[in-house]
Amino acid sequence: MPSGTPEPEHPFVVLGVSGGIAAYKTVELVRRLRDQDYHVAVVVTAAGEQFVSPLALGTLASEPVVRELFVPEGGPIPHTRLGRRADIVVVAPATADVLGRYAAGLANDVLTATLLATSAPVLVCPAMHQEMWEHPAVQENIATLRRRGVHVLEPENGALAGGDAGAGRLPEIPTIVDEVATILGGHARALMGRRILVTAGGTREAIDPVRVLTNRSSGRQGHALAEVAARWGAHVTLVTASELPVRDHAGRIEVVRVASAASMREAVLDHLDESDALVMAAAVSDFTLSAAPTKLKRRDGVPELHLEPTADILAEAVAGRHAGQVIVGFAAESSDALANAREKLRNKHVDLLVLNDVSRPGAGFDVATNEVVLLDASGEEALSQRSKDEVAQAILARVASLLSRGDA
Ligand code: CTP
Repeated sequence: MPSGTPEPEHPFVVLGVSGGIAAYKTVELVRRLRDQDYHVAVVVTAAGEQFVSPLALGTLASEPVVRELFVPEGGPIPHTRLGRRADIVVVAPATADVLGRYAAGLANDVLTATLLATSAPVLVCPAMHQEMWEHPAVQENIATLRRRGVHVLEPENGALAGGDAGAGRLPEIPTIVDEVATILGGHARALMGRRILVTAGGTREAIDPVRVLTNRSSGRQGHALAEVAARWGAHVTLVTASELPVRDHAGRIEVVRVASAASMREAVLDHLDESDALVMAAAVSDFTLSAAPTKLKRRDGVPELHLEPTADILAEAVAGRHAGQVIVGFAAESSDALANAREKLRNKHVDLLVLNDVSRPGAGFDVATNEVVLLDASGEEALSQRSKDEVAQAILARVASLLSRGDA
């Protein structure tokens, strides 16, 4: 780092704002980046200024907003100063136009000049209408930038300007802030490059070609675990029995869709050896049956279903675990929750057990929030009700510290 750079504990973030409607969200982004104790310098393009006030951005940033490539004689040249000092350059929103000029190596405004003048990591957060995002020109520019090592946070699906909907929305501000932290190292460093295997959803055992035996797990908690782990830099394999979409902005999640307990077991065993940690959030059926080859007919009377036990995937993983591998189990309980969970912690030999009392409102199946207790050999921590994303963060912070302890 050249002299005069900020102390490492205050990373220097250059935020480039270009001209899309999502630019209005960058006032909040500056604030949240400052909350992380980053030094934040903002560069705004002429088009960006049409959507967000440089005064608002500059009031919250660590220094005055840079708007011009050309400065009065004798002043420091802003793009080389910012480009050299940056620990990361974030472009949010990144319009199709800015992505195109950056990919082509053009530098006709202060933002693209800064991008060419930096050797720091660059994170672009594209936001535009779906038609533009999917245009081959934009996709080829993205591919070019990725090839050059630029980080791309893919846009989300949702409402777009003008009443439209589709892929093209700027990701939520915490997602951008997390991605910045991941790239910079920060709190997420412990999962950087780790391989995390996550299971999610409720398995489905076929009764006949039409009917299934299943449970009420939605897969939301497991998907949140996979998404947060990926945001924190891990390479994730998500073995899921859920139909829910997976938000994988960083392109670090391999999704394996399964249905039955047996197919989940096979997928888990396929990926177990290479994994540093297994987080078994799925609600795996304890029972299965031989599926009838054709639909059971009502006229044949009430069928008798012969249930058989499924293999306990978690138990197999524990029995075959390799040194340093971290294994997290879940306990879904509806009565005597804590007592049952303590017993499971004793019997299952996992490093961490996550108790989900599914009888509580705002916890467990198919709701956006969860309320869990984390149990391990050293004690119990009850987490108040919070989003499944935040629960995932708490669980993965434990996984990260268990992994780093294993390294020591
Ligand atoms: N699990 C598993 N394979 C199974 C059943 C469960 O790997 N066939 C895992 C779950 O993913 C979870 C943990 O085991 O991480 C505990 O699941 P849970 O259903 O709470 O416990 P069980 O041991 O099945 O006990 P019970 O259903 O009797 O409460």
